[in-house]
Amino acid sequence: IHNVVFEDSITASKMVAQEIAALIREKGKQGSKCVLGLATGSSPIRVYDELIRLHKEEGLSFRNVITFNLDEYYGLSRENPESYHYFMQEQLFDHIDVLPENIHIPDGTVAPDDIEDYCKSYELKIKSAGGLDFQLLGIGRTGHIGFNEPGSHVNSRTRLVTLDHITRVDASSSFMGIQNVPRKAITMGIGTVLVAKRIVLLGWGNHKAQILRDTIEGEISSEVPATYLQRHGNTTFILDTEAASELT
Ligand code: F6R
Repeated sequence: IHNVVFEDSITASKMVAQEIAALIREKGKQGSKCVLGLATGSSPIRVYDELIRLHKEEGLSFRNVITFNLDEYYGLSRENPESYHYFMQEQLFDHIDVLPENIHIPDGTVAPDDIEDYCKSYELKIKSAGGLDFQLLGIGRTGHIGFNEPGSHVNSRTRLVTLDHITRVDASSSFMGIQNVPRKAITMGIGTVLVAKRIVLLGWGNHKAQILRDTIEGEISSEVPATYLQRHGNTTFILDTEAASELT
């Protein structure tokens, strides 16, 4: 892995947005689609702000872009303000010209009996789009990427998972209490993420410093799923000084 540390997350996010924009334009020139893997949560918000600015002020078009989000809470519909569908519309999709049919986010409302088929079809859609050109990631305090919690297999694919207690604690304030945080989610797997051609993980703030040290400097282990990124040849960790403060 290669790390880049910035003074602040805003400057860092602008750099990441510039990389994504360059990729979209490059693919556009070749007449091909640009397949983006996207994350939710607080980490990517400034990247999305900058992409929106590039669209509005610099004519960046998303008409050749296909998106696949990492995950969705199981049991939440797209109308639920806590759903990742809602988040993505509000933080990005409502403000750019991506075609609605090119947006993919796991559906949190699939019936239990249909989950397996649904997850297989999500994987197939990524594959038939040509695979992920770029995957944006955040990291949870458990070391999860997507919702691949400790214990996730390196070859795991899109599936229904149980959220770690720490992950539910971290989500509890936005859900007004841990009792309202879903217990399960549908997430792309570690194996799904690792075949992306390019991966950028964002880490901001002191609360991420310890897990980022374990991820970057620790042994590869399913106990810290993000350590599997060490095996990916084209991953960059973009950190602010606080998040990088525990690195040796
Ligand atoms: C979100 C996701 C999660 C988050 C992680 C960090 O789609 O897959 O892995 O990236 O929980 O969340 P924040 O950025 O809110 O600290």
